[in-house]
Amino acid sequence: MENPFKYGCVVSGDHFCERAKAEMEIRGFVKAGQNVFVQGERRMGKTSLVKKAVAGIRGERLVYIDLYCIGTQADLCRRVTEGVGRANASMPFLKRVMGFVSRLRPTLAFDSNDGSPKISVDTLAAEEPSSLDVVLTMLEKVAADGKTCVVFDEFQDVLRLKESERVLAEMRGRIQFQENVPYFFLGSVRHEMWRIFTDSKSPFFKSAAAYDVGEIDAADFSRFLVSRFQKGKRRISSALAGRIIETVCGVSGDVQELCAALWDVTDSGSEITDADLPAALDVVFMRERKGFERAVSALTPTQFTVLQGLAVYPGAKVFGGEFLRCIGVTNTGAVKKALSRLEDHNLIHVSGGTYKFTDSFFRQWILKGV
Ligand SMILES: Nc1ncnc2c1ncn2[C@@H]1O[C@H](COP(=O)(O)OP(=O)(O)OP(=O)(O)O)[C@@H](O)[C@H]1O
Ligand SMILES: [Mg+2]
Repeated sequence: MENPFKYGCVVSGDHFCERAKAEMEIRGFVKAGQNVFVQGERRMGKTSLVKKAVAGIRGERLVYIDLYCIGTQADLCRRVTEGVGRANASMPFLKRVMGFVSRLRPTLAFDSNDGSPKISVDTLAAEEPSSLDVVLTMLEKVAADGKTCVVFDEFQDVLRLKESERVLAEMRGRIQFQENVPYFFLGSVRHEMWRIFTDSKSPFFKSAAAYDVGEIDAADFSRFLVSRFQKGKRRISSALAGRIIETVCGVSGDVQELCAALWDVTDSGSEITDADLPAALDVVFMRERKGFERAVSALTPTQFTVLQGLAVYPGAKVFGGEFLRCIGVTNTGAVKKALSRLEDHNLIHVSGGTYKFTDSFFRQWILKGV
């Protein structure tokens, strides 16, 4: 049987553990036409949640636009047009969209695998400054039916554009008057999302409500994991499922990755026990080892000591006497500097007032070496 756990992609159907309250809250925003910026740690389930919630609203059309690693304005125009084109495969709709962006010399093609439409635009034409207005106007016209929800994913990557301020200002100018259209802006780089939405100098300042996607309810998630294992004739106690969730700090994608590895190291019909966990973690470490080693080799001894301390004492008061005594560093200035470097390396971040590992497998790998 195929591995019943999925990670590294958007999940739906029976790969999706119900999170009724969060879905209801997202639907509430959609129905109210409320703009929202959605953040949460990497792999926590932001994209899957928003897609699932919108799909559950009868008659609601989802325009999904992924801005991951966007490089140029032409890229932005292309992704908006493609996103709109994917929202509805009917010919009259596609023709209407092509008409709205005719200045960008659009072409229509159909995917040979699943037949989904893809509207492309000419790169040179899309690079002209005025083209952004053309695609944003098209988006506005498409959404004017009051039954469309627009999702910009990895929205912070707009900041990568050379003229990000102008682009943001233009987008804001367009979006603010569309009262009935819910715009969702998803992102995982917290400080950049904050910069866009809460810095008084940003065009998007106070333009959207904040929504945080946290952990899936542990009891629901562990029930879900038990039933997924059962599907493949493997038994696991809900207590152990709970420990798996804790091991990776409740990050949905990491939970599924660890379970996929557990699946790989156990046999059909077996009872999974705590003794299987180290072998499953080793499967993940084998994939990630090179990156982990590279990250550690770039650290100074003090930075590494502080990192080890954070791995062993999660949630510790990092400037408290006890933590400093335990890690054997007495100079708070040195600890402060080390923490700031570790944050720059994106190995840790502040969440809920404490330092957390950005990758919980990395923490487990450090713990293994302590
Ligand atoms: N509701 C859910 N039930 C079970 N697993 C989930 C759920 N949501 C997300 N996951 C797991 O997390 C992984 C990442 O999901 P998703 O891409 O939606 O998260 P994300 O927060 O958008 O991630 P990124 O930060 O990479 O954009 C999925 O592949 C899946 O393993
Ligand atoms: Mg995502």
